[in-house]
Formats: sequence, structure tokens, C-alpha cells
Amino acid sequence: METHNHAETILAGQTIALKIESGAIFCFFGDLGSGKTTLIKGICRGLHVTDWVTSPTFTLINEYQGRLPVFHFDFCRMNSLMDLADLGVEEYFERDGVCLIEWPEIIENLLPKNFIRFSLNMTFQSGYDNFRTITIKRPDF
Ligand SMILES: Nc1ncnc2c1ncn2[C@@H]1O[C@H](COP(=O)(O)OP(=O)(O)OP(=O)(O)O)[C@@H](O)[C@H]1O
Ligand SMILES: [Mg+2]
Repeated sequence: METHNHAETILAGQTIALKIESGAIFCFFGDLGSGKTTLIKGICRGLHVTDWVTSPTFTLINEYQGRLPVFHFDFCRMNSLMDLADLGVEEYFERDGVCLIEWPEIIENLLPKNFIRFSLNMTFQSGYDNFRTITIKRPDF
């Protein structure tokens, strides 16, 4: 999937949201500014979340309610493994709803086997400053 600007990534997220079922665990890999939060905002919009979606900072997790409960994690600013123990992240993976995880590489060995991998890249494309490629892959294919 390719997007040329912020709005197209939001739209891509809305489309992805149509197919989400309870129990889905989505991991978003990509550099700073590659569009992880933007795509998550689109997914939340598609899930009819009306709360303001923004990256969780001190709490590591934000919860929203839409068509399904949404658990939005961002491990970018995690300070210690103690935070992880306090959070009980593995319990969220068992809950009804959808987990959307930014910077999943930081907790890679805690990720369940069935997560779906989103890779976001800022690839250079002549004529487009804001080109992104979004690749969706399950671990098993
Ligand atoms: N095609 C695009 N898709 C998504 N965002 C884009 C695109 N083009 C430009 N942008 C801009 O790039 C920035 C992406 O920021 P965003 O917070 O979504 O990235 P992120 O991957 O979550 O970064 P971080 O690792 O810091 O959390 C936004 O300012 C957005 O408007
Ligand atoms: Mg982000």
C-alpha cells in the first residue's frame, strides 16, 4: 500500500479498520515520523472512536471505545522494564478488543505469535515529499 500524504494514510487506516475483529494485535514498525500514529488515528476513526487519539506518553497505553475496545500502546518512551511489569501488557493481549502497538520491537519477546506486522517506510519517490509505503504481513506468511 502506498500513500502520498497524511490524509491518504488516515484513509488507509479507515479501510483497514473495516476488517478488524476482536482479538487482533497490530504491531507498527517504522522510523520516527514514518506515520505509525497517523495510521492508528485512521484505524480508530474507522472503528468509530470519538475520543481524541494521541500517542500515550507517561502511561504507555491509551484506551478508547469504538466498535470495539481499542488499546493503543507506544513503547517509544518506556523508561524501564519495571514499567512493563506494572502495565501487565500480556493481559491486554488476551482481552476483547484490538491492540495497536507503536515501537513493538522494544517488547519483541513478549509479543504473541499471532500479531500482524505493519511496516511503514519513508521511501524516496521523485515528485512526492510525503510518500510512504505500508506493508502488512502476518508472521506466518
Ligand atoms: N503519507 C503520509 N502518511 C503519514 N504521515 C505523513 C505522510 N506524509 C506526511 N506525513 C506527516 O508525517 C508525520 C508522521 O507522524 P506520526 O506521528 O504519524 O509518525 P510516527 O511513526 O508515529 O512517529 P513516532 O515514531 O515519533 O511516534 C506527520 O506529521 C504527518 O502529517
Ligand atoms: Mg507515533
